[in-house]
Parts: sequence; C-alpha cells; structure tokens
Amino acid sequence: MSPFTMTRTLPVDSTTAALRDDVADGLTRTPKRLPPKWFYDARGSELFEEITRLPEYYPTRAEREILIARAAEIADTTGARTLVELGSGSSEKTRHLIRALPGLRVYVPVDVSESALEPAGRALLTEHPELTVHAMVADFMHGLTLPEDSPGPRLLAFLGGTIGNLLPSERREFFTAVSAMLAPGDALLLGTDLVKDEATLVAAYDDAQGVTAAFNKNVLAVLNRELGADFNPADFDHVAVWNAEEEWMEMRLRARKELTAKIPAMDLAIHFAAGEEVRTEVSAKFRKEKVRAELAAAGLESRRWWTDAEGRFALSLAVRT
Ligand code: AVJ
Repeated sequence: MSPFTMTRTLPVDSTTAALRDDVADGLTRTPKRLPPKWFYDARGSELFEEITRLPEYYPTRAEREILIARAAEIADTTGARTLVELGSGSSEKTRHLIRALPGLRVYVPVDVSESALEPAGRALLTEHPELTVHAMVADFMHGLTLPEDSPGPRLLAFLGGTIGNLLPSERREFFTAVSAMLAPGDALLLGTDLVKDEATLVAAYDDAQGVTAAFNKNVLAVLNRELGADFNPADFDHVAVWNAEEEWMEMRLRARKELTAKIPAMDLAIHFAAGEEVRTEVSAKFRKEKVRAELAAAGLESRRWWTDAEGRFALSLAVRT
C-alpha cells in the first residue's frame, strides 16, 4: 500500500454548501457573524503562516517551546503508535513530536485545507519513510472517522489554540466527539492560549504590519470568489477586541460606510449601516481549572499541564478513561 493516501470525508461541493449555510445564517442575523474556518483558502493559510512569524503573535512560538521541552515526556506517557492531528496545517510543530515518538507508525493529519495537507504529508514522509500517512480532508466537527489502519495507543493532537475558535457549546460537542473517537487509554494533546493582559492579546490580533488585518479581510475575498459576492475589502476596517466577560478575543470587520453587498449565488443583498460589524472570529483564552473541567466532563482525565516559561500558553495531556 502507498505510504501516502488522501481521503476526503466530505463531497467536494459540500464546502460551498456549508459556506452558503453559514452566510445565510450569519449575515442575515443581528449582530452579523461568520465562522472563522472560512479564512483558510490557499491565500488565508499562507497569511496565517505569516502571522505565526510576527513578533506580536506569541502563541505559535510559546507552543513550540513547550513541545520541544516536553516531546520525550509525551512520548513516554502515551507510547503512541498512531498520531492524529486535527487542523494540522503545515504540520510544522508536529515534527518535534513525530521525531520523539519511537513507536509511531501512522500519522493522520486532518485539515479543511487540501492545499496544506499534500505538501506537508509528503515532506514528512521524506523525513520519516517508516511512517504511513493518511491525510484527511475533513471538518473535524462533522463525522470524522479515523482510518481503519490506526493502531493504538493513539494520540490525538489539537494544537495551536484552535480549540479557542469554538463557542462553548461547540467545545462541549467537540470534546464529546473526540472522546467517542478514542479508546480507553488513548490520549488527547490539547493546546490552549491562556488569559493574560489585554494589551498583549490585542497586539497579537492587531499586528503593526497589518498581516492579521489582511487575514481577516481575506474572508471577503473567499465570499467573492466562491459565491460571486461583490465585497470591497477596502470598505472594511479590521477590529480586534478583548471580550473580558467571555474571556475571548474577537476579530470583526467594520463597514467604513453604509453599503450593500450583493451575493448573486444566493440571491441575497446584505445591508451594512456605517460602522456595522461582522464578527469573524472568537479566540477563547483559558485558565487551567476550566480546561480540566471541560475535559473531565467528556471523560478525558487530565494528566499533565505544561506552560512555556512566560506562562502564556499551555499544553494539556489527557487520557480517555
Ligand atoms: C489558528 C485559530 C489558533 O485564534 O489565534 C490568528 C487564528 N486569528 N490571528 C488564533 C488567528 C488571528 C488562530 N488559530
């Protein structure tokens, strides 16, 4: 069998169908909102990679620091033979983990972006010819089933703080689905960004070079291309705010003037008052006790909690009981 296979668990056009549903729901309500997953076309994935290298965007560096420091410990604790990575993107940080897992046989990167999966999977195989890579183009929130060839113990990694993009009810669903996917003794490795001072957080989501602004506005280009919409990105300002009550960062796009955008593919016209906003992303920040409690509620028992030296970001290791 080929050491590299790519599986799509969604029909090719389901992406457009899901985008239409999200637009029909999110842009016709007040206040307007869109789910963050639509940032990540090829351009959006590139912009995100650029964000991870910005001086203000600490989460990627902080998480890498923890992974490098703890990879051996993770390997010892889990003894994983299969590594499943949700939202794998370029699989850059996972390399440290893969190098440290001597018993690893199968790597299953899962991402909505096929353009990121293919080169990442192939590059890993060059470095680790002993591995089997089953790449999966899938939305991990909906009906993800692991490939048959995924020997236990399994380690499921959800890194980068992407868990913060889910709303609390979605998070509950997610942990429950993950728990159901795992067998007793399998483990979850979870990256969570932590609550910290507002200035650091706002700078991380509103960088001086404007890369995050371009990333945020890229969702409009996706709507234009996929649905024939006529948004002009220059009509919107990038906004990043700390919601202290919910303990999450929000990204929004704010209309600079009154405008109406046409979405012909859906026979829709979306009106914006001057200053009206669309919330495009929630990025929740966590505290240790909250993470533990949410995992425990889904049958995932926390065994380790590691942070970077500055205490900005945490990795949790939890075991399915
Ligand atoms: C990839 C979802 C973890 O929420 O920090 C980066 C995405 N948004 N800058 C995050 C993001 C704005 C990122 N995650």
